[in-house]
Amino acid sequence: MTLLVTGCAGFIGSNFVHTWLAGSDEPIVNVDKLTYAGNLSNLESVLGDARHTFVQGDIAERALLDKLLALHLPRAIINFAAESHVDRSIHSPIDFLHTNVMGTFHLLEAARDYWTAQGQPEGFRFLHISTDEVFGSLGPQEPGFSETHGYEPNSPYSASKASADHLVRAWHHTYGLPVLTTNCSNNYGPYHFPEKLIPLVIHNALSGKPLPIYGDGQQIRDWLYVKDHCLAIQCVLDKGLVGHTYNVGGNNEKTNLEVVETICATLDRLRPLASGRSYRDQITFVKDRPGHDRRYAIDASKIQRELGWTPQESFESGIAKTIAWYLDHPEWVASITSGAYRDWVEQQYTAKTGAA
Ligand code: NAD
Ligand code: TYD
Repeated sequence: MTLLVTGCAGFIGSNFVHTWLAGSDEPIVNVDKLTYAGNLSNLESVLGDARHTFVQGDIAERALLDKLLALHLPRAIINFAAESHVDRSIHSPIDFLHTNVMGTFHLLEAARDYWTAQGQPEGFRFLHISTDEVFGSLGPQEPGFSETHGYEPNSPYSASKASADHLVRAWHHTYGLPVLTTNCSNNYGPYHFPEKLIPLVIHNALSGKPLPIYGDGQQIRDWLYVKDHCLAIQCVLDKGLVGHTYNVGGNNEKTNLEVVETICATLDRLRPLASGRSYRDQITFVKDRPGHDRRYAIDASKIQRELGWTPQESFESGIAKTIAWYLDHPEWVASITSGAYRDWVEQQYTAKTGAA
């Protein structure tokens, strides 16, 4: 029994490896290209663990996938690998098409051939990790996205993830591949790369830099602590019905301004500034993201009702844990805020504010 899991040097994948190995001896083969978002330092504590095999590779490289499947004979494939940052997808969409669309296609084809060569075992699973962003943007009074909500992706990122979801669906309907898909809301927690809102704001606050809020800061996201997402994925792998999709969310809708103010208030308590001022003073409103989705919210009642999953963390408990983790791991932040990271921040925020 082995899992072949892609993209586990990134944020959610690395948390998945830690969560999985804390509760199981079933080995994981982790295939990751190590893009700017993949960091082996996220996996430091398991790099010498016999249950975790790391392979640097691209999910669009079919020959490598065939070789790994034949060698490790996994009972399931879980696909986390993706380009995941909306702002980068606006600057340079091509990488999103390469990995999220073509990479998923090659992984599905490799999985189909492997599953067929194995005699189509009933227990095999292809679990695809997706996002709520494929559903588009909600109005203020609309109910959260259910699994039957139409796909209305608005960014190059969400369009590429929507394409991947459709391929996964088609490989089930056409070829019978036993697939599962999860569509999750925004995650936060340890090992989150500081290009995304929550880790960027924590990092900038502690570095004395501006806390950039796009537009009016009233956009809403539905935040889920990453470990709860990892537990939901385990639950879907164990109990999910083949061909089904499951929406995963924390029932924690917050405006971006609320999120940033919560981070500032927590840091004021845990790491007060010598000047006696609040981190709030660093908040800076900057030019909005083009095509910025106004609101995401998830109706997670299907996974709760049918599979018995519920999130363990509230936003308050999860954000406190997250901030404590960043305060305890300055060496991790230092190791990943490299030259390439600094180049991105300069390019992105100079354009928005006129100053780095
Ligand atoms: P991430 O950007 O932190 O990590 C992505 C990982 O994939 C990196 O380690 C990267 O090196 C790897 N990768 C990229 N291209 C690859 C390729 N061609 N071949 C092999 N590896 C490749 O992303 P994340 O936030 O951990 O997201 C993981 C998955 O979860 C993605 O599919 C994303 O769409 C989905 N998701 C993310 C969130 C969120 O809030 N972060 C919410 C819902 C769903
Ligand atoms: P992000 O973490 O990039 O996730 P996503 O775009 O996938 O939801 O952004 C979360 C929200 O925060 C989104 O509405 C954009 C906003 N945001 C800012 O206001 N400032 C920032 O510097 C960043 C990175 C995001």
